[in-house]
Amino acid sequence: MKEYADLNMSLLGGGLPPNKPRELDDDGHVVYGWRPQPKFTPLTFTRGENSRLWDRDGRCFIDIGAGQMSVNIGYGHPKIQNVMRRGASELTYVAPYFATEARSLLARRVAARLPGDLNYVFFCNGGSDAIETALKVARAYTGRTKIIAAWQSYHGATAGASAISGDARRLMAEPLIPGVGRFHVPGQYRSPFGATSMDEEVAMALEAVDNLFKLEGPNSVAAIVIEPIIGGSGLYVLPSKFLHGLRSICNKYGCLLIADETICAWGRCGEWFSSHRYGLVPDIITTAKGVTSGYMPFGLVGMNENIRDFFNDRAFVGGLTTEGHALACSVALANMEVYEEEALIERSSKLGEYLLNRLNEIFSRHSCIGEVRGSGLYAVIEFTADRGRKSSLAAKLQKNSNSLGDLVYSLLLERGIITMAKNDFLFVAPPLTIPEVDLDYAIKSIDEVVTDIDQYVD
Ligand SMILES: Cc1ncc(COP(=O)(O)O)c(C=O)c1O
Repeated sequence: MKEYADLNMSLLGGGLPPNKPRELDDDGHVVYGWRPQPKFTPLTFTRGENSRLWDRDGRCFIDIGAGQMSVNIGYGHPKIQNVMRRGASELTYVAPYFATEARSLLARRVAARLPGDLNYVFFCNGGSDAIETALKVARAYTGRTKIIAAWQSYHGATAGASAISGDARRLMAEPLIPGVGRFHVPGQYRSPFGATSMDEEVAMALEAVDNLFKLEGPNSVAAIVIEPIIGGSGLYVLPSKFLHGLRSICNKYGCLLIADETICAWGRCGEWFSSHRYGLVPDIITTAKGVTSGYMPFGLVGMNENIRDFFNDRAFVGGLTTEGHALACSVALANMEVYEEEALIERSSKLGEYLLNRLNEIFSRHSCIGEVRGSGLYAVIEFTADRGRKSSLAAKLQKNSNSLGDLVYSLLLERGIITMAKNDFLFVAPPLTIPEVDLDYAIKSIDEVVTDIDQYVD
């Protein structure tokens, strides 16, 4: 956890190279998330179309991060623009205890896409409050309080979501809500298990989770929370056996399995929901981002009938002023139609294979890359200072007060490419609609940047 020691740096990357003046004369009134303020000089965008963004000087950038892994259908989609225009002139919002056609229809459509018997949906404002609601539901339903979650995770910025996250952003919420146990997932680049095969590693990881239950007191655990494909903490496509093992542990101890699909749903990883990839049926799913492709702040919690029925004779444990926001629901409906009409889930899966092959080809030529991982149009390059020892390149640069993430980000920016780069990770998560010419240009740029980074290996 040494790399987490210095919270003086940006935890998310982004922005212009250091020491450039602010572009907008806002006198610094805006407070930006997860970074020291005065050092931050954001780019200013005025227009977007599919995978491209234009800044105020008319310079064009290709966004292979899809905003924050959210703009799955690309910027400026005409169908969504029309729905928003119509929605604005009809009805944007009513109190959450009134029905709207869009909310009812959306719940039905989402239920049809959710895995297994998850047929009931609570609508909220984003990924963090979806998790917050899921935690409250699990606690109420089981009558227990503890939550078990992965070290390799980010579940959001609110108090409960921060507390169950493994990501460094958790530290800013300390002291955390009590009663959180953590485990390591199998299949990491630097495995903490020392196993000789993946089967053995999965068995060891599951045994560790089972032991954690015994140590915490199995009757006090309300839920395990897991991202089926772990996103911002390094993109780990978890072994199916591990996820089904977690399901069995939940069944054995009578607690709930919550799948946090904030990033990995809506085609991002090649399926409507990543649980589908594994044939996994959690008790609760939370999601956000691609649900509206970032056109409106929105999230949801899907749950099964047993859980919904628990609230037949008692009040549901969550509620929000903008719960089921009418315009957001209309946007989410139209967004789902775009996925279907443009066959974007299938495209993500197919183009994702191409992306992974191309990145693996780059990996084969550059010693600064330790591993390439991905699923659908979601991939990560993990850098290393030494392939044999798997040492962290970010940690090596940090000794000289340099940030690998900022360096990679700036080198890509110079080539007109925007994406998220932090710690040892370079993420590639373009809109699922990205034209192949844009993707190829981005891959070529990544190849050039990686060539530059090679000079820092041991
Ligand atoms: C897996 C996961 N859960 C929850 C969240 C929090 O979502 P939001 O930022 O919409 O609150 C995120 C955000 O990146 C996430 O990746």
